[in-house]
Amino acid sequence: MVKICCIGAGYVGGPTMAVIALKCPNIQVAVVDISTARINAWNSDTLPIYEPGLDEVVKKCRGKNLSFSTDVEKHVAESDIVFVSVNTPTKTQGLGAGKAADLTYWESAARMIADVAKSNKIVVEKSTVPVKTAEAIEKILTHNSKGINFSILSNPEFLAEGTAISDLLNPDRVLIGGRETPEGKKAIEALRDVYAHWVPVDRILCTNLWSAELSKLAANAFLAQRISSVNAMSALCEATGADVSQVAHAVGKDTRIGPKFLNASVGFGGSCFQKDILNLVYICECNGLPEVATYWKQVIKVNDYQKTRFVNRIVSSMFNTVSGKKIAVLGFAFKKDTGDTRETPAIDKIFNDMQKPAFVFDGRNVVDAEKLRKIGFIVYSIGKPLDDWLKDMPAVA
Ligand code: NAI
Repeated sequence: MVKICCIGAGYVGGPTMAVIALKCPNIQVAVVDISTARINAWNSDTLPIYEPGLDEVVKKCRGKNLSFSTDVEKHVAESDIVFVSVNTPTKTQGLGAGKAADLTYWESAARMIADVAKSNKIVVEKSTVPVKTAEAIEKILTHNSKGINFSILSNPEFLAEGTAISDLLNPDRVLIGGRETPEGKKAIEALRDVYAHWVPVDRILCTNLWSAELSKLAANAFLAQRISSVNAMSALCEATGADVSQVAHAVGKDTRIGPKFLNASVGFGGSCFQKDILNLVYICECNGLPEVATYWKQVIKVNDYQKTRFVNRIVSSMFNTVSGKKIAVLGFAFKKDTGDTRETPAIDKIFNDMQKPAFVFDGRNVVDAEKLRKIGFIVYSIGKPLDDWLKDMPAVA
């Protein structure tokens, strides 16, 4: 029986391994983490993260071929394939601070694998890492390998929080990068066999290591770039009387562009886009490509501009000061799944209790602005024709 271990029981490691366990009953999957609290939660009825469908998958497999443990070394030593899915946040100090990915957790995981391994292993980069990380990881693993053979693969994860389980069950593609050597090809095949339990083989893309590592950063950069592009248009819509939803609809009908990721909003959030683009910018700078770095940096600058513009709109509408005023934030999560306020009866209640004039600033264009206006609110929707009040109180970013 093939044994898989995943280091890092987070938003990626937990759901990914649960789906592998579900689809591969012949594979034993252990998810390990240094955080006792997280592992205890994975072993309880209240999982540490919420994802639609995750509970059911975990309940089906836990205690059969899926386990969660803090005994990191034991499970790593026993496994044939080790996924590393630890966090790779932006560095806060030292060389590349504010941009480069912090690989401290990755490095310590790799050193531990090298220390405890007693048999050959395939080590899989699941975390999002800078291109060329596999080269450094190989050096750490082989430096002290006692004759053990390690094959490194890059298998970046493309799931989106909120739809993780359906993304994993039905992925657009699975990407596996490896060395173009006989051992490298054998390792790619072994991992491809795991995914082939449920993913059609034409959706399993095999590339060299650097293409796989870079593709993840490139995919997130392209997705974020679409958000910043439509958000930049939203500012122009407000200035001209155009409606960003109508513009996005018309633009997205072009099959070369497509309709997805064209909703104007208060900007992208979450743990990945900003960190991964900053990382990409840093890599470009390190490779002597300042123009390319500047191009991608602009995606983040527009995102910051959009957030600032939204806040400035709030402040200027309320006579340029918010001191002493109460502001309620509805939908604090970064995904529409959890921040949807459509049709909520609470909004009419809220209006009666509010000081007048009462405002709603919709950063995701999810509320029914017309309904709210009928109740008496002044409504700001990103990229939409402005209420007279807002026209009289122009905001500058
Ligand atoms: P997370 O922070 O939820 O989980 C990482 C886990 O790794 C933590 O529980 C931490 O305790 C554990 N860990 C750190 N060092 C360890 C060590 N040496 N030994 C054992 N456990 C250790 O992070 P998340 O969100 O799961 O992300 C992981 C990676 O996947 C990151 O590189 C991220 O960029 C990438 N990614 C994240 C996605 C997301 O939607 N969250 C989507 C695709 C990729």
